[in-house]
Amino acid sequence: MTRPARAIVHLAALRHNLRRVRQSAPRCRVLAVVKANGYGHGAVRVARALSDAEGFAVAGIDEALELREAGVDARILLLSGVHAGEALERACRYRLDVVVHHESQLEMLERARLEHPLEVWLKIDSGMHRLGVPPEQARSFWERLHACPQVDAHVRTMTHLANADDRRDPTTRRQLETFRDATRDLDGERSIANSGGVLGWPDTQADWVRPGIMLYGISPFVGGTAANEGLEPGMTLTTRLIAVNRVPRGGAVGYGGTWVCPEDMPVGVAAIGYGDGYLRHLPSGTPVLVNGRRVPLVGRVSMDLITVDLRTQPQARPGDEVVLWGRGLPVEEIAEHAGTIPYELVCRVAQRVLIDTEEI
Ligand SMILES: Cc1ncc(COP(=O)(O)O)c(C=O)c1O
Repeated sequence: MTRPARAIVHLAALRHNLRRVRQSAPRCRVLAVVKANGYGHGAVRVARALSDAEGFAVAGIDEALELREAGVDARILLLSGVHAGEALERACRYRLDVVVHHESQLEMLERARLEHPLEVWLKIDSGMHRLGVPPEQARSFWERLHACPQVDAHVRTMTHLANADDRRDPTTRRQLETFRDATRDLDGERSIANSGGVLGWPDTQADWVRPGIMLYGISPFVGGTAANEGLEPGMTLTTRLIAVNRVPRGGAVGYGGTWVCPEDMPVGVAAIGYGDGYLRHLPSGTPVLVNGRRVPLVGRVSMDLITVDLRTQPQARPGDEVVLWGRGLPVEEIAEHAGTIPYELVCRVAQRVLIDTEEI
């Protein structure tokens, strides 16, 4: 028997979530963010499922080429742009849009000789202080881009929001004002909103939105839930029990014996572990579904196995279904137990977990 650990991608849920983007930002075009292998869901699979999007955004050129080679023909934006002349030529050959966020990239474009002009998105730092040109230099960058024969005439401007995951944080309003001031006299389409912007900050929606996490059915908000935002989980991480053992009172379970049975009790062993992307530091008490009902994780997560307390489910047997997150068990909740964000959990799902797809 093959290992039963699976990350099942729910294609219909991805499409539902794209409709939710459109409902929330009805006048906008959508660049679906599929970097990091589609947030762990499989970039090609996600791009095919979301073929209705006006385009896709990835981190770098290798991710874009994977999509092109799989036949994805839509607009693809390289969110970090390119950092070498040879990559610029490939971006041209494969009709990729590039972000320009730094003077070195602009100089590279000015030096280049390309077969045809590239579509460029000028990224302005409106306050996140990560990527982007200073707002006071936006006009001079914009003019140089317009003067550059390697750049298509439709230069777009964009920025990225640092705190849109909190509906009350004043940073977003300040970033929006900074971006508006910097681009006031510049023609061309604009893009600001990530998922937090799409759902929580309608003023940031502009011409193009760039949702990532919400497409995968995960709330972008701190303490938020997918259900509250009308989203459907895009992935269910699932496996099966492969053993149910009676462990005597005082028996220490798993590596390091970090959890000790308070009584004679059934302990279930499920075939999933940190080798599959179920984080090792998830603590005892993290909920797991066995046959659709919650039981607590007990003891350390191993590479291929976890152990669960089955006292409330003494009838559970090897072969029974176990869900780690997804349908019936929000990944947002598991991320809280892990002390991280759900983005990290889904991105870390391992290749060896065969990703099945499901139309329902
Ligand atoms: C520039 C940019 N735009 C959009 C996104 C999508 O963000 P989210 O997944 O929060 O919607 C990201 C993701 O980090 C990003 O870096």
